[in-house]
Amino acid sequence: MFSGKTALITGASSGIGAEMARQLAAAGCNLILVARRTERLDALARELSTVTVDVITADLADPQAADAVYKQTLVLGRQVDILINNAGFGFQKPLLSLSPVDQLGMVDVNVRSLLALTQSFTAPMVQRGQGWVLNVSSVSAWFPIPGMATYAASKAAVLHLSRALHEELKSSGVVVTALCPGGTRTEFSSLAREKMDQDLEKAMMPADRVAAAGLQGLMAGKAVVVPGAMYKLMVAVTRFLPGVWVTRLAGSVMGRHD
Ligand SMILES: NC(=O)c1ccc[n+]([C@@H]2O[C@H](COP(=O)([O-])OP(=O)(O)OC[C@H]3O[C@@H](n4cnc5c(N)ncnc54)[C@H](OP(=O)(O)O)[C@@H]3O)[C@@H](O)[C@H]2O)c1
Repeated sequence: MFSGKTALITGASSGIGAEMARQLAAAGCNLILVARRTERLDALARELSTVTVDVITADLADPQAADAVYKQTLVLGRQVDILINNAGFGFQKPLLSLSPVDQLGMVDVNVRSLLALTQSFTAPMVQRGQGWVLNVSSVSAWFPIPGMATYAASKAAVLHLSRALHEELKSSGVVVTALCPGGTRTEFSSLAREKMDQDLEKAMMPADRVAAAGLQGLMAGKAVVVPGAMYKLMVAVTRFLPGVWVTRLAGSVMGRHD
């Protein structure tokens, strides 16, 4: 379905984004890889030499970066058919133990840049009457998480935005899908927390399975994809519990810090 098309993937230098790049390349899809670590992106571009790959270095915490990325695709003369807003990070720290720069950085990368890129790239997709946008949210979107409040709120924003845009853009031929992974084995958890809880470690999914679930959901035109039976159940259960229980439970499981 994506053979011969072009996908732009943010956060392609590691984890879920790098796995999506590999799977799309295997399906014959050309790529534009975006992240801060250029050497990682260059290495991935060399690995995926069967398709056309361009690399754009960008720090998406910079409010000007999304526009610069869009303009660079025009300079490169590349039409973006599939936008994958995957770049993101989260600190597992209480509100007051993080600097305002780190708190707002999560919002800038996880939400602001995603929104700006979505707006820039969907405009030509709507004109063409075809396009795909995959926004990487999280199961955290269903849980206010004491101890990880900003990250969870940023992912809730991504989920709500994606669900609304799924309906808003449906008639124009543009598919918008939110991918909501649970714990996934990537570099994310080493940044989010210093020490991984053993029970949480066991529940982690491999990044390639999460990437595949997201791409399949996008191709099937789904609004929301939650990979893994355990995480689907977790999300379903929130509907039947009082909100305060959900918040406390999330804080005790996901918001713990040493
Ligand atoms: N792993 C999990 O348990 C989990 C669970 C739910 C949701 N997610 C979400 O999945 C997405 C991918 O994360 P991952 O698990 O694959 O973690 P990862 O291996 O740490 O990958 C994160 C990617 O985001 C990029 N990134 C971070 N800050 C950036 C910035 N300021 N500018 C540009 N790129 C930036 C990183 O590239 P550079 O460092 O090279 O810039 C990297 O390529 C994130 O949105 C994350 O919130 C992860």
